[in-house]
Amino acid sequence: MTDSQGETDARTATDPQTAIDAQTEGRRRERDDRVYDHTAGDVQEGVPFIGAGPGDPGLLTVTGKNLVEDADLVVHAGSLVNSELLEEYCADAELVNSVGKDLEELVPLMRDAYEDGREVVRLHSGDPAIYGAALEQMDALEHEGVPTYFVPGVTSAFAASATLRTQLTLNETANHVAFTRPQGETLDPEDDHISEFVEMGDVTTCIYLGTHAVGDTMDRLLAEGHDPETPVTVVYHASWPDEEIIEGTIETIGERLDDAGYRASAMVIVGQAGTGAGYERSYLYGDWANRGPNDGETEADD
Ligand SMILES: C[S@@+](CC[C@H](N)C(=O)[O-])C[C@H]1O[C@@H](n2cnc3c(N)ncnc32)[C@H](O)[C@@H]1O
Repeated sequence: MTDSQGETDARTATDPQTAIDAQTEGRRRERDDRVYDHTAGDVQEGVPFIGAGPGDPGLLTVTGKNLVEDADLVVHAGSLVNSELLEEYCADAELVNSVGKDLEELVPLMRDAYEDGREVVRLHSGDPAIYGAALEQMDALEHEGVPTYFVPGVTSAFAASATLRTQLTLNETANHVAFTRPQGETLDPEDDHISEFVEMGDVTTCIYLGTHAVGDTMDRLLAEGHDPETPVTVVYHASWPDEEIIEGTIETIGERLDDAGYRASAMVIVGQAGTGAGYERSYLYGDWANRGPNDGETEADD
C-alpha cells in the first residue's frame, strides 16, 4: 500500500476509534445490505467472527467447525477457548492468541493475512455477541476494506444451565433472564444492575466476568437487604473436563467459592431457576395444548 507521497507505509491501520466512529455513523444512517441478504447461518465473504462455544469442542456449531478447519490463521481468545478444540480442528493453521494484543495490533494482523489471500477466522469464546468486544474489531476491519460477519455460538450461561439440568426461564420461577457483569475496573458502580435484577424476583441473573468478585457482589446484595437464602449456583468451566459446580446462597456462596479457589472462568447464576426447583407446569403442555388450532398470533414457549 502506498500513501499520498508515494512512499510505502508501515501497513498500520486507521486509528481504531476513528474507524469505529465512521462505521457506527454509517450504520446510524442506513442498514448494511448484508443484513437483508444473509441469514445468521450463511457462510459469507470475509473474516468470520465465530463463537467457539463454552469449551467442549462438540459445542462448536457445524458451520463454525467447517470454517476453522479451513482456516490458515486462527486468532483466538486464549485460555477461554479450549486448546482441545484448537488441536482437534485447527492443527494446520497458524494460531494467534489475542490476549494482550490491542486493536492496533490485531486489525493489521488480520487485514494483512486476509489481503494475502489467507483464510482468516476470529474465534471468540461462547457467543461473540456476549461480552465479546467483537464489533469493534469488525468495524475496524471493515473500515480497512475487509468484510466480516458473525457465526453464533453457545454462550456459557446456556452451557451452565445444561450442566445444571435446568432452564434459565421456568414457569412461576423465572420469567426473565439477565446477562450481566459486576462493577469493577471496566464497569462503574452506577452501571452495576445486579441488585436491581435480583430485586425483581423473577429474573435469573447470569453473571459473566464476575468470578473474582463474587464475595464483594454478594456482600453488596446483603447490604441492600436481599434475601440471604436466595440460591446462587456457580459453574466453573462449564462443559470442560474439569467443570465444577459450587452451590450456595447469597449468604454462603462467597466463602464456598473462596474455598474452591476459582477466580475466573465461572458462570454465576443468581435465582431459583439455577436449582431447577419450585416451578409449575407450563401452559404450553396444559391449557394451551387443548385450546384448538393456534391462530399464529401468539407465541408459546417451546
Ligand atoms: C469475556 S467473557 C466472554 C463470554 C462469552 N462470549 C460467552 O458467550 O460465554 C468471559 C466470561 O464468560 C464466562 N465463561 C466463559 N466460558 C465459560 C465456561 N466454560 N463456563 C463458565 N463460564 C464461562 C465467565 O464468566 C468468564 O468470565
